[in-house]
Amino acid sequence: IASQEAEKRGWHLYLVGGAVRDLLLAKTAGSLMIKDIDLVVDGFHKSADVGAGVELAKALQQLYPAARLEIHGAFQTAALLWHKDPELDSLWVDIATARTEFYPYPAANPEVEASSIRQDLYRRDFTINAIALRLTSPRSGELLDFFGGLLDLQAKQIRVLYANSFIEDPTRIYRGVRFAVRFGFEIEPQTEEFIRYAINSGVYDRTSQENTKTPALQTRLKTELKHILEAPYWKSALQLLDNLGALQCIHPTLKLDGSLLRQLRLLERCLRRFDAEQTLIHWQMRLEALIAHLAPEYRVKVAKNLQLQEDSILRLKNLVQSFSQVIECLPTLQRPSQIVQLLRQYDLPILILIALQSPRSLRHQIWEYLTVWANVQPLLNGNDLKKLGYKPGPLYRQILDDVVAATLDGVIKDRTEAEEFLA
Ligand code: CTP
Repeated sequence: IASQEAEKRGWHLYLVGGAVRDLLLAKTAGSLMIKDIDLVVDGFHKSADVGAGVELAKALQQLYPAARLEIHGAFQTAALLWHKDPELDSLWVDIATARTEFYPYPAANPEVEASSIRQDLYRRDFTINAIALRLTSPRSGELLDFFGGLLDLQAKQIRVLYANSFIEDPTRIYRGVRFAVRFGFEIEPQTEEFIRYAINSGVYDRTSQENTKTPALQTRLKTELKHILEAPYWKSALQLLDNLGALQCIHPTLKLDGSLLRQLRLLERCLRRFDAEQTLIHWQMRLEALIAHLAPEYRVKVAKNLQLQEDSILRLKNLVQSFSQVIECLPTLQRPSQIVQLLRQYDLPILILIALQSPRSLRHQIWEYLTVWANVQPLLNGNDLKKLGYKPGPLYRQILDDVVAATLDGVIKDRTEAEEFLA
């Protein structure tokens, strides 16, 4: 339907980006689920009008009223979104006009200028993402592969299109690593050199500045980190980012050393054990663990740069104080009830961060608290207290807390002992 609408207006329509790459990979690798479709409109004899993509999206929205239309004026792109549609489930279709991007200064937002499909593809990140499939006739179904993307798909290579690509958009370093690990591809040697050059030239300084003029870049870096840290291959991706020196984009001192690796392994165990219901956001906890590994004075700045949620920023800010409180008090406490009293002022995510950095003996006490002690319930309830002659009131809470404490410390084991204890 989209291609008919484009043809009516004398335009070409192309499927581009990840969908083409994944279609071609699926030919060899099997199943495919495309939820994100990128379309590009171009003119037959000259570039299409810069608003062509938006016009086509509007025409399609008339035909599919269930779709939500979003127009991104600055970039002359539009998106049609089907959210949980009974037939399509969730689908996101981006429609842009063929364009080249010209960057006024490195790491800034690209500005827009109408141009042809070849230039549109050339401005993209990697050869495997720069193949177009023509959807309009004549020659619909034809692949446009100007930069050797098909060969690179076969040879399993992540190859950048031009030398300056990573300087213009440092998040492409993270994208390259993500694709390499996800597909089991290699970063082609020249591309690796360009990555190292970009990093050595301080491209990350622009991404790690406190008062950066380019918040969009930070947002994109965070999006890339999210993609990486929520994928099953996140550990290999971090390893590759570290090998390339690219963790410096988060902070110049961030290294995936033995101690950080051990903490990340522990974190996974914690998340499996204490958050099977996934009430915490796991990728965010991984990112917090990375940031918590930095010296305390850098943590909040990095968290703010990456625009983490307020609660994450607060946690990283309070970590030093909470950590020293726990590390100083815990060894002085003998009884489980005292440990519970200390630890219950902290919620699960901060306790996890504290535990990751604690020596083993203290960590085991935190585990014991989380798995057993925090879940101990009073052996009696309000009705029992009433029968024992206590007048209902705020004192009940205190009495029941005392019963829990006595249970934790092994003073009482059952209801009878609890009643005797209160008597
Ligand atoms: N793109 C780019 N540079 C970026 C981001 C995107 O050149 N920094 C281009 C690539 O051609 C990419 C397309 O825009 O294929 C779509 O981007 P996106 O949807 O983010 O990625 P996909 O390639 O579709 O990958 P994924 O399957 O992970 O969504």
